[in-house]
Amino acid sequence: MSTAATVFKVPRLEVVMDKFVIEGGRKLSGTLPVSGAKNAVLPMMAATILVPGRCVLHRVPVLRDVSTMAWVLGVLGVDVSQEGSDLHLDSTECASVQAPYELVKTMRASIYVLGPLLARFGQAVVSLPGGCAWGPRPVNLHLSGLEAMGAKVTIEHGYIVAEASKLKGAHIHLDIASVGATAHLMMAACLADGTTVIENAAQEPELPALAAYLNALGARVEGAGTSRVVIQGVTSLRPADHTVIPDRIEAGTFIIAGAMAADELTVTDLEPAHVTALLDHLRRMGVALEVGPTWVKVRGVERPAAVDVHTDFYPGFPTDLQAQIMAMATRARGATVINEGIYHDRFTHVAELVRLGARVEVQDAMARVEGVERLSGAQVMASDLRASAALILAALVAQGQTVIGRVYHIDRGYESIEKKLNAAGAQITRVRE
Ligand code: EPZ
Repeated sequence: MSTAATVFKVPRLEVVMDKFVIEGGRKLSGTLPVSGAKNAVLPMMAATILVPGRCVLHRVPVLRDVSTMAWVLGVLGVDVSQEGSDLHLDSTECASVQAPYELVKTMRASIYVLGPLLARFGQAVVSLPGGCAWGPRPVNLHLSGLEAMGAKVTIEHGYIVAEASKLKGAHIHLDIASVGATAHLMMAACLADGTTVIENAAQEPELPALAAYLNALGARVEGAGTSRVVIQGVTSLRPADHTVIPDRIEAGTFIIAGAMAADELTVTDLEPAHVTALLDHLRRMGVALEVGPTWVKVRGVERPAAVDVHTDFYPGFPTDLQAQIMAMATRARGATVINEGIYHDRFTHVAELVRLGARVEVQDAMARVEGVERLSGAQVMASDLRASAALILAALVAQGQTVIGRVYHIDRGYESIEKKLNAAGAQITRVRE
């Protein structure tokens, strides 16, 4: 029996206006541990709607987005509680099929509950997600995939209203290799009548991770991680426990932190195979790296070589590390051209980096970063999850003090980031505004 903290309801994290006060110029050293992957655990949590009974997910990060998904599931009647990094979910009593706007608007991944509700109950009413800091985030591929499986989908008063007496296997070709649509349709297809094929599926590591969990629940998913996924529908699923994979974006963020600000830093508890595009890029920037089975050791470079970046679908350079590598490029020797291949306006971090002394110009989906000798501390504002992480990285090497407002954006996807960085030598103070 675990002696960990008592089991408690997942708290609804209030949005508090904290800020980070960061003293720049301190060298990082020692180790930085990586937590479980946010973008793997969110669909896994939604998948428990498919199976009545108690499931336990291990290595679940304590994040705002996880608490939001727990809250959405709670509203649907799923019993969610946390014990340390174990998340207990029991959807036996799941009854409601409506996910309200006030919750869905805070996290677009809430849409993941739509397919599982449809598969289990034959109906679902889920608020249409809004946009985000960098523009509209459509879900048309999710909805057209469910329609291909026989669902009747309408939009009424901002809600997706879906009905299907029984989802049927379908041959679905995604126009865009969407992570969310691939995950969502994989889950919906598990209990469908017949076989579903998803062509041009996303290949990000979170998808094989989700498929491994679905198969542990008794589903029959093959090919996840390739562009063609085949799901044989089954009649029922059974509860299963599972461990969440490491967060490759948190890992990448920490490796870049080391490349910018460390004498020598070891990032631990990660899957190096999930960050090969970043490691290759850093080597070309002149960063010395040593790679172990579950760790990466990195030595910092004050003025790295300028190497252009093009973000792409996996296994290309991840868009979720674009802001962070830009922070590193601000002090490169020369100019770096960054081409954002996924979200063409994902540059909310640029204006804030410029306030720290960076020289960046944006033209459509392209940013040109002219390397400077040094950055200088300033007051800046977090805007979205990864942009905020980039500001922390820049603040670590800026001269003087930087104050980052609205760090609740960071708490969405980074578990205790200031505690982890301070343990490696940073000086970050969280202050309540
Ligand atoms: C996932 O978002 C991640 N979020 C994002 O990480 C990540 O940036 C993104 O994948 C790309 O890797 C989660 O996994 C919770 P997509 P998702 O569907 O699924 C277009 C973070 O920082 N598209 O792969 O929403 C879309 O506009 C977050 O953790 C459609 O046109 O991304 C984009 O241009 C930020 N129609 C492209 O596809 C659709 O129906 C890729 O989006 C769906 C997507």
